[in-house]
Amino acid sequence: MKRHLISAADLTRDDALLILDTADELAKISERSIKKLPTLRGRTVVNLFFEDSTRTRISFEAAAKRLSADVINFSAKGSSVSKGESLKDTALTLEAMGADAVVIRHGASGAPYRLAGWVRGSVVNAGDGTHEHPTQALLDAFTMRRRLGPLDGRKVTIVGDVLHSRVARSNVLLLATLGAEVTLVAPPTLFPVNVDSWPCEVSYDLDAMLPKSDVVMMLRVQRERMNAAFFPTEREYSRRYGLDRERVARMPDHAIVMHPGPMNRGMEIAAEVADSPRSTIVEQVANGVTARMAVLYLLLGGADLGGEI
Ligand code: CP
Repeated sequence: MKRHLISAADLTRDDALLILDTADELAKISERSIKKLPTLRGRTVVNLFFEDSTRTRISFEAAAKRLSADVINFSAKGSSVSKGESLKDTALTLEAMGADAVVIRHGASGAPYRLAGWVRGSVVNAGDGTHEHPTQALLDAFTMRRRLGPLDGRKVTIVGDVLHSRVARSNVLLLATLGAEVTLVAPPTLFPVNVDSWPCEVSYDLDAMLPKSDVVMMLRVQRERMNAAFFPTEREYSRRYGLDRERVARMPDHAIVMHPGPMNRGMEIAAEVADSPRSTIVEQVANGVTARMAVLYLLLGGADLGGEI
């Protein structure tokens, strides 16, 4: 594996399978009453969050702590960033504290790549602008594999605001590496211009895709990143691209519903669908801790797991 995890494209098929297999092993710890391993004792993980997060920030903290690493949580709010301190100076300050890994979420696409040039430790991208969110893709693949088995040939339909979604891009790249067949579904206004170069199919017709999907992954409509009208009304969007009970009934019996969170309940996904047995949304959150433990463990070269689990 490379030293940093900035894009899902950084992972070969062997790397991705190693992370998922390691996560399978580490999942056994989450079932125990004492959910802790000494593997990363003496290592320091810095969580550097310049953008809001609930799931990713908490799960990286839990993952590092379950591996016994020392954890420093940095939030831009309340830090010297508000006095104008740059990303580079913030990174060098953290470097001086001896960070072995820096987990970064930033509103600017490419910020983790820049950071990797300034610090000695491993950099893990926890979401950069509209670019990528590779550990979300790993936890999603881990969740699919636990529900459905190997991903080769599985049909995954990703629906919604692809234009602003770092989750969609990372999922397309990772799922293609793992042999799944991905179709993106969105209104024409919510596709990026270069989507034809992505390793996936593109469709505007959600209803046509539902009967042939093993997985339907709904994306959040990212209103905070929209500076123009991308669809006529929320009601119209919901009618064409929202997942409700009637649409779920057209999916195969084994098919699952995913969403990375946070959700706009009632817009891209009906509340009764989000809370149904087909939904893996809560599982995805739990699997996020396990998948991120596997990433930190492998990047920081933890001791052999065999004797510890
Ligand atoms: N899925 C995800 O990245 O959620 P948060 O923004 O809450 O971290």
